[in-house]
Amino acid sequence: MIRVVGIGLNGKDSLTIEVKSIVENASILMGSQRHLKYFPDYLGVAITLENFIKDIKNLKELNKDNKSIVILVSGDPLFFGLGRLLLQEINNKDLEFYPNLTSIQLAFSYIKVPWHDAHFISIHGRNLDELILSFRKGEKKIAILTDSYNSPQVIANIYLSLNLSKNYDIWVCENLGKIDQKINCFSPQKLINLEQYEFSSLNVVIFIENNNVILNKQEYKQLPILGIEDKYFLTFKDRPGLMTKREVRIAILGELNLQPKQIIWDIGAGTGSVSIEISRLSNTSKVYAIEKTAVGINIITQNCKRFRTHNVIPMPLMSLEELYELPSPDRIFIGGSGGKLIDILEICQQKLRKKGCLVISLATIENLGISINWFKNNSWYYSLFSIQVSRSLAIANLTRLYPTNPVFLLKASRKYE
Ligand SMILES: C[S@@+](CC[C@H](N)C(=O)[O-])C[C@H]1O[C@@H](n2cnc3c(N)ncnc32)[C@H](O)[C@@H]1O
Repeated sequence: MIRVVGIGLNGKDSLTIEVKSIVENASILMGSQRHLKYFPDYLGVAITLENFIKDIKNLKELNKDNKSIVILVSGDPLFFGLGRLLLQEINNKDLEFYPNLTSIQLAFSYIKVPWHDAHFISIHGRNLDELILSFRKGEKKIAILTDSYNSPQVIANIYLSLNLSKNYDIWVCENLGKIDQKINCFSPQKLINLEQYEFSSLNVVIFIENNNVILNKQEYKQLPILGIEDKYFLTFKDRPGLMTKREVRIAILGELNLQPKQIIWDIGAGTGSVSIEISRLSNTSKVYAIEKTAVGINIITQNCKRFRTHNVIPMPLMSLEELYELPSPDRIFIGGSGGKLIDILEICQQKLRKKGCLVISLATIENLGISINWFKNNSWYYSLFSIQVSRSLAIANLTRLYPTNPVFLLKASRKYE
């Protein structure tokens, strides 16, 4: 039988009497040098683990003799530990696990945050794809097991270069449970400014979402006239990817052919990012940020406050008929249609002012087909392009590209005799 015993941060004392006796009575005790040192009085055969392939081979041989073998590991063997690999190599009838507290569990206790809903990732000797994916998904809590190469600064750099709309506090928990334990909270920016600082190689990094981003005076003053970075917008907590990305937003603003003193409808406004950019470009225009979800309206209202816009009107829309009550627009942008694209287009046909134009962003080929057919059948001019942006991403000293979703931008106006 092979018993895999998790050691806690205070070594032998972290084990119950029962588990301690299992260790002490084992005929073979395997572990790292550090772990074996916790049992100086052990009388059996002690083997230092060094190389996984060699160790497994050795272990399989020893197991044939029906010896009682104990392997010491840190924390919970089945939490990014040796346990998973042992299960791949050894019959699970021959394995028993005795877990201890994991480093992540301890870290969450120290920072006083519940952890049942956290997302766990190990980049300890692994690639960073899963980490990038969880940033892009906007997970609320991300707990990361690191190694000396993938340091907290490297992680913060990756997060910042993704230029996402979610903001986080980053906790770096070093040497947990040891005398030199350190637990500190940083903003991503502050962390990358610590370029030269060396954190202990034994650390876990925890990202906790921070929704209290308020633009300070300085940041507000430095906002560009066009193309605000995504991270400044408040987004849907559960679906951060729902926002129209900055590069696409810039293209939409160009396609809209904006002029002063216009009425603009932004249908399916979502976070209001397009409305807010329009309002900053043209402060004499009136922008109706039309949105059917209450959450969306709340986010639009908060974003308007955040960017101090005075000419965006968040418009909750219970039924499409309410669009008839709004002032006729010079420009319409449709960013979301909730499955009612044709009904919306019919209303736009009646309400759009002469010489007005309409821009739709479409993520699916089906909706593109529906739109084109409708424009053809109703004798509108239309043109379109597809846009697919890949953004740069800093991985240590290298730069990689990662793709964002492609969209179609369709622009249309009515034909007049
Ligand atoms: C291979 S994983 C082992 C995880 C282990 N099974 C557990 O339950 O915690 C090793 C990683 O755990 C983290 N770690 C382990 N002990 C730690 C400690 N005392 N302080 C901070 N991080 C620790 C580090 O990120 C390290 O790279």
